[in-house]
Amino acid sequence: MPIRSRIIGLGSYVPERVLTNYDLEKMVDTSHEWILDRTGISERRIASEEEATSDLAYLASQIAIRDAGIKPGDLDFIIVATVTPDMLFPSSACLVQQKLGVQGIFAFDISAACSGFIYALSVADQYIKSGIYRTGLVVGADAFSKVVDWTDRNTCVLFGDGAGAAVLQADSGNSGIISTHLYSDGALWDLLYVPGGGSRNPPSEAMLGNRLQYIKMRGNETFKVAVNTMSEVIKEALKCNGLTPDDIKLFIPHQANLRIIQAISKKLNVPMERFKVNLANYGNTSAASVPIALYETIREGKIEKGDYILLEAFGAGLTWGAALIKW
Ligand code: UT7
Repeated sequence: MPIRSRIIGLGSYVPERVLTNYDLEKMVDTSHEWILDRTGISERRIASEEEATSDLAYLASQIAIRDAGIKPGDLDFIIVATVTPDMLFPSSACLVQQKLGVQGIFAFDISAACSGFIYALSVADQYIKSGIYRTGLVVGADAFSKVVDWTDRNTCVLFGDGAGAAVLQADSGNSGIISTHLYSDGALWDLLYVPGGGSRNPPSEAMLGNRLQYIKMRGNETFKVAVNTMSEVIKEALKCNGLTPDDIKLFIPHQANLRIIQAISKKLNVPMERFKVNLANYGNTSAASVPIALYETIREGKIEKGDYILLEAFGAGLTWGAALIKW
C-alpha cells in the first residue's frame, strides 16, 4: 500500500462578534434583501481589534490537535494559508508555532488567497506521501475585515473572518488525500487584489489617502471565472480518478457566493443538496472557508468511512484547485 496523508483531526474558530446585514445597512447604502438575494450571506464574524490572523489560526489548530489525539510536539511541520498575515514577516505559521510552543520543526505561510487551504493541503500531502515527514498541521486563516474598505458596498458585504485547521498524518490504509489539482493564472491578478502595503505601493500618506490598503475587486468578472474554473477543476479531479459526480458524497466548495455554487451545481448537473453551504453565517472567510465547511460537515456526521468528498476553491491570483479525499 502506498503512503497516503489522512486527515486525523479538524478544528475551526470564528471570532465572537457577529456583523449582520442589518448592521451593514447602517454603514453603507445596502439592504439585507440585496445582500441575501445576490450572495446568500446573512451575517459574518469580525475579529476584535486585538485579534490577528495567527490568533484565529492558533485557536482552530488547538481544536484540530485535540481532535487528532496528538500533542503539538508530535507535529513535523506547520503550514498556514493566509493573505492577511499578522505582519509582512515573520510568517503567521511561525507565530502559530510559537503559540503552540513547539520547536525543532519548520513552519511557513502560503499565499493563494481563497484557494490557500487546498494549496497548503497539496503541499503537505507531498511531504507526507514522499515519506519525509509523518504529521503536519495545515491551517487556512484570514481576517479580511482588516483589509476591507468599510465604505465600499461592492466588497464589504462579502467577507468575514475565521480559521480552519487539519492535522494530516501518514497512513498506509486506502483512505486519505487521493489527489490534488492546483492552477493559477497571473494574467488575471487585477480581478481581486490589495494594491498597498507591499513593495509596489509601500505605506505612505499618499497610499493611505488613495485607500490602496483596501481590497479592490471586479466582482462580475470574478464571478464568471469562479464558476468556470471550479467546474473545470472538479471535472478534472473526477476524470483523473475514474469517478463520476455520483461517486462523491459531498462537494465542499469555497463559500464566496451562493449563486456561484448554484451555477456550478447546474453546470455539473449535481443537486444542491450534495454541496455543503454555510456562507449564510460566515460570508467569505477566504482561506478559512473550505476547512470551516469541512469541519462542520464531519461534525454533522454526514460522512462515513470510505465516502469520497471533493474540496474546491478559487481566489485571488487568480488561483484555483481541488482535493479529492476518501474519508
Ligand atoms: O473569493 C473570491 C471573492 N470574490 C467573489 O467571489 C466575488 C464574485 N462576485 C460576486 O459575488 C458578485 O459579482 C457580487 C455579489 C460582488 C455582485 O453581484 P452582482 O449580481 O454581480 O451585482 P453587480 O456587480 O452587477 O451590481 C448590480 C447592482 C449595481 O448597481 P447598478 O449599477 O445596477 O445601479 C451595484 O452598484 O448592485 C449594486 N450593488 C449593491 N447594491 C446594494 C453592488 N453592491 C451592492 C450592495 N448593496 N452591497
